Amino acid sequence: MQGTIIRLKKLAIALVALPLLASVLSNSTSVPATNAAVQDDVAAIYKAKCAMCHGAKAEKKFDPAKSDEELLNTVLKGGKPGMPAFETKGITEEQAKGIVAHMKGLRTAPPASE
Ligand code: HEC
Repeated sequence: MQGTIIRLKKLAIALVALPLLASVLSNSTSVPATNAAVQDDVAAIYKAKCAMCHGAKAEKKFDPAKSDEELLNTVLKGGKPGMPAFETKGITEEQAKGIVAHMKGLRTAPPASE
């Protein structure tokens, strides 16, 4: 008897938790979930791996007037004195593109939230 109740409780918890979890995972305001996830990712990577050299607002050692291609190439291959190559550190081309866009965004307009 006790066992049945516990099992029913677990079932109830699962039924409530699953949609909740799904809604948390896909939580986004205006952009589709995947884009939002990539954006969060990009901002987190920038903070973790780049901000210590380039600054919280990408204000250091970064010229947003350069072409995306040139900037992207620098992120992936390094080459400039003091700039590590990130391709070998697990940054994908897609992430690098996102980070370059993020850096340009930091320079041109402060994000609304933060
Ligand atoms: C150890 C310090 C350091 C870290 C960490 C670092 N950078 Fe750099 N980065 C530099 C230096 C130094 C340059 C060369 C600046 C120059 O030549 O004017 C540079 C150049 C760049 C450029 C080219 C800028 C330009 O105007 O040509 C980009 C884009 C860039 N970094 C992005 C990143 C990204 C994205 C990350 C994180 C994934 C990162 N950097 C992490 C030091 C760093």
